[in-house]
Amino acid sequence: MKIAAADILKETQRTLDIVAKADLTDEERDALTETTVSAYANYVNPGILEYRKSVSTEYISIEWSDSANTFNDIKGKKYIDFLGGYGVFNVGHRHPKVIAAVANQLKRQALHSQELLEPFRAILAKLVHDITPGDLQFSFFGNSGAEAIEGAMKLAMLHTGRKSFVAAVSGFHGKTLGALSATAKAKFRQPFLPILPDCYHVPYGDADYVESILKSADEVGNDIAGVILEPIQGEGGINVPPDDYLPRVRDLCDRYGALLIADEVQTGMGRTGRMFCVEHWNVVPDILCMGKAFGGGVMPIGAFVSNKTVWEQLFPEPWLHSTTFGGNPLACVAAIAAIHVTLEEKLPERAEKMGNEMMGRLKALRRRFPKLCVDVRGKGLMIGIEFPSDAIGYEIAKGFFDNGVLVAGTLFSAKTIRIEPPLTITTAEMNQALGVIEKVFKEVNARHFEPPKRPGPARR
Ligand SMILES: Cc1ncc(COP(=O)(O)O)c(C=O)c1O
Repeated sequence: MKIAAADILKETQRTLDIVAKADLTDEERDALTETTVSAYANYVNPGILEYRKSVSTEYISIEWSDSANTFNDIKGKKYIDFLGGYGVFNVGHRHPKVIAAVANQLKRQALHSQELLEPFRAILAKLVHDITPGDLQFSFFGNSGAEAIEGAMKLAMLHTGRKSFVAAVSGFHGKTLGALSATAKAKFRQPFLPILPDCYHVPYGDADYVESILKSADEVGNDIAGVILEPIQGEGGINVPPDDYLPRVRDLCDRYGALLIADEVQTGMGRTGRMFCVEHWNVVPDILCMGKAFGGGVMPIGAFVSNKTVWEQLFPEPWLHSTTFGGNPLACVAAIAAIHVTLEEKLPERAEKMGNEMMGRLKALRRRFPKLCVDVRGKGLMIGIEFPSDAIGYEIAKGFFDNGVLVAGTLFSAKTIRIEPPLTITTAEMNQALGVIEKVFKEVNARHFEPPKRPGPARR
């Protein structure tokens, strides 16, 4: 230890007292803000302070509380959440049914013994079977999206006996080493190459490319275990593929003996207007990966689910893939509550309806500001607005934030801003946020694309 235990005890007690408080005094807010910024600079990463400038107004904004479709910073300023935690908050923030499930479970047992059978893991696996398309049946639960991808890749290798993968340019599947092999951004991958050496990236949305790589891999004996794709690319810029893309890739996988792995970590749980995005095209993948919203915005949980034929590889060796915290009871009951709320509140249908409305109004704005707004695209409540440059995208995101609406660029570029609010967003909140979007568009458009106003003749 670097300092005396007595001092650490004082610090931890002070923090636990703050956590327990319903309201903070102004002095406590200021002290906590100062501690947070200094600890980011010294113990987290000073680069993050630099990077997060778009979400700082006249003061450094520190998040503090949330509920339904909004969150508050420590000074009490309220923001409409148009980002939804990159797809985490589909059922809103701290949905009462998810909170109740987790709180009730916590009163009885928090984590599992690791040895006995667990009821809620079992029930959740059955529910995942029920809500996923086609013959998807068996599930493994982990703690994140990347973990789900890791498991899916291992399962594809196991089932096919092959080692190579095809993924898409602009695809994002996480940053652990296996998932990073499929992720497409050079900056994230280069320092760690070769990662999984035989992972080929093809342009997204072009089934001919997938065909040519499967065919040549087949000819040279470097057979492909799996084709990993997001049904709509999230971090790559909200890219929607042509309607025949996934059905054609499905057929190609069958033809060449590769498994189709659908990464629904961001698109799943109703986000695009269907429970799972692949349902837009009636495609059933061999393995489907979930994360983010699966835990109801309260607990972290990811999963990969597959059909019996593929899963059979794991029957005799169930511990070939395992993790300590995956499938813990708190996370499983949160996911069960998330499924319940998603169906009870008809959130996929709501995402489709609200998404269509929002898309129509954003497209109308695009027509009014054609130089500023290059494109509006998406499905359901997964919408991307593209600007001519990263700098303008950043300026727009900052303008929204200053006016109480949180959005963000995608991981691959700041020039596409994503609109991914909770699927529970109300019409009033949508109208308010669209008002802000219009105001900021006007301001940024005037700064960049309108000639400066000449001063009129001096009045006598
Ligand atoms: C499509 C997709 N797959 C995988 C991941 C990785 O998930 P996690 O950050 O939970 O590891 C993400 C995260 O943004 C994602 O969007």
